[in-house]
Amino acid sequence: MSWTAGYNNSVAYTTGFYQEQSPTYLNACLVMQRVAPPSIEKFTYCELGFGQGLTSLILAATHPQGDFYACDFNPVHVLAAASIRDEAKLSNLTLPENSFGELAQGKVELPMFDYITMHGIISWISDETRAQIVQFLKRYLKPGGVVQVSYNAMPGLAQVLPLRRSRRGYA
Ligand SMILES: C[S@@+](CC[C@H](N)C(=O)[O-])C[C@H]1O[C@@H](n2cnc3c(N)ncnc32)[C@H](O)[C@@H]1O
Repeated sequence: MSWTAGYNNSVAYTTGFYQEQSPTYLNACLVMQRVAPPSIEKFTYCELGFGQGLTSLILAATHPQGDFYACDFNPVHVLAAASIRDEAKLSNLTLPENSFGELAQGKVELPMFDYITMHGIISWISDETRAQIVQFLKRYLKPGGVVQVSYNAMPGLAQVLPLRRSRRGYA
C-alpha cells in the first residue's frame, strides 16, 4: 500500500480554524461539566492531521506557554505550515511529517500530551488508521489528559450549502 494508506491526497486540504480544538475552550467546557482540566499555565499539545495548519498556528501564537506539536503525513501541508511558522517565529510549534502509524509506533521522539485533538480525521480514514490513532492515544496521552474529536457535519455547515449549489450551477 502507498504512504497515503488509502487517504485521498490528490488536492491540498482547505484552510480553516476550529475553536473547539483550543485548550482554553476545552478547559472552559470541562469546568462547566465540573471536570478538573489540565493546567493552562504550562502544557503539551498535539494536533493529529493538521491540513493547512491554521488551527495549530493560531493556537501556538496565542498560547506561548504551550508546547505544540502538529502532525501530518502530507509534505505539501507540512511545507506550507512550516513556512508560516518560521515567518511568525513560533518556536513552540513542531511539525512532524509522519503518518499516525509511525507516531503510534514511537518512531518520532514526542513528549506525553495534556491535549490531543483532531478535526475532520476520524470520519476520513480507514479502520486500520483509526486503530493507529487509538494506539497513539494509549501511548502519549497523560493521565487526566484531554482528547478532542470533531468533524464538519450538515447541521453546522448548512449555511454554506446555497453557495455550493450556486457554484455547481443549480438552484
Ligand atoms: C480532512 S483533512 C483535515 C485537516 C484539518 N484537521 C482541518 O480540518 O482543516 C485530514 C488531514 O489528515 C491528514 N492525514 C490523513 N491520514 C493521515 C495519516 N494516516 N497520517 C497522518 N496524517 C494523515 C491529511 O493529510 C489531512 O491533512
